[in-house]
Amino acid sequence: MCLKCILKHADSCAHGGIYSVDHRLVKVDCSSNVNPLGIPRAAIEAIKKNVGRISPVYPDSECKDLKAALSRFLSVSTSQLTVGNGAVEIIYWFCQLYAKKRVVIPVPTFCEYEVAARRTGAKTTFVALNDSFRLDPNLLIEKSRGADAIFLCNPNNPTGMLSTKDVKKVIKNLDSSTKILLDECFIELVDKPEANTLIERIGEFENLVILRSLTKSFGMAGLRVGYSVSSPIIAAKFSEAKIPWNVNGLAQVAAIAALSDAAHVDRAREIIKKERQCLYSRIKKLENFVPIESDANYFLVRLKKADSTSFRDLMLKKTGVLVRDCSTFTGMDSSYIRVAVRTRKENMLLLRALEEMDDV
Ligand SMILES: Cc1ncc(COP(=O)(O)O)c(C=O)c1O
Repeated sequence: MCLKCILKHADSCAHGGIYSVDHRLVKVDCSSNVNPLGIPRAAIEAIKKNVGRISPVYPDSECKDLKAALSRFLSVSTSQLTVGNGAVEIIYWFCQLYAKKRVVIPVPTFCEYEVAARRTGAKTTFVALNDSFRLDPNLLIEKSRGADAIFLCNPNNPTGMLSTKDVKKVIKNLDSSTKILLDECFIELVDKPEANTLIERIGEFENLVILRSLTKSFGMAGLRVGYSVSSPIIAAKFSEAKIPWNVNGLAQVAAIAALSDAAHVDRAREIIKKERQCLYSRIKKLENFVPIESDANYFLVRLKKADSTSFRDLMLKKTGVLVRDCSTFTGMDSSYIRVAVRTRKENMLLLRALEEMDDV
């Protein structure tokens, strides 16, 4: 990846989602990567049941009941947990606390690491993934010498690829003074989350923060609940950084109800596994698209002919199907889009839209 591509978007951070375009045009959103089954019924019922009681009162600033539910769900202590208004809020606290002079970011990846680090005045060292979008652990370790912090995303966004072995190698070989934010926001939607998560090893690394999100796993993007698992010392520092009542009351009860329905995520994982393979192989047969293999609920598609921004806009206008234009990812050019793996019906609409665009 060229330096020009890496520097191109250094000061901006665009996202997918229906509000990234004229939302009235969107019939199927394949640009955001949330659980294809949406929010669990139990969470909707909890909101309906509690809206009258909860809306007039201030929420629990400490999210005690939610932390207790997360503690049971993850088998970690509540003192290791931090709850944020989405995982993104925790990324900003992490940078506020630890990104002082320089941070290391493998690219392409989720853009908020870069923006949050810049806000604290830290310099960013971008380390490009190789041409197959893989991490070079040795290079990362070398570039991280003397850095305040490093960001790792497993599976990575936008590639959807897991690099658990390389991530472990990097974490083990970093100086303990370098803080690590390991973003596992999509890990519950890969085929084998338990074989890839580092949550049960959190006690081994005082400098590690593992980030998770109910946005993705339980389809709750609009409610905004994310959390992290870290040492109790880091969790206490996060607690000092937060504003009061950062997670609203309805989001808290919905999250507690969602966590009681872990089978919801298991069902989504089964669908994603089957649908990802089906969608991938059908796209592969098309003339002008090259799908890139992924472990998650989304994957990249290389466009042989089109520019990704005009492609996204034209496809939305013609078909009502929205995909993620990847030209805004640092380290990427305008030849990729990212598609989410959704239910069979929605995936077929995406496929039909791509077929229609294949002739354009
Ligand atoms: C890798 C990654 N981490 C974190 C987030 C933010 O998650 P949340 O919605 O919980 O703030 C996103 C959102 O797209 C993401 O892609």
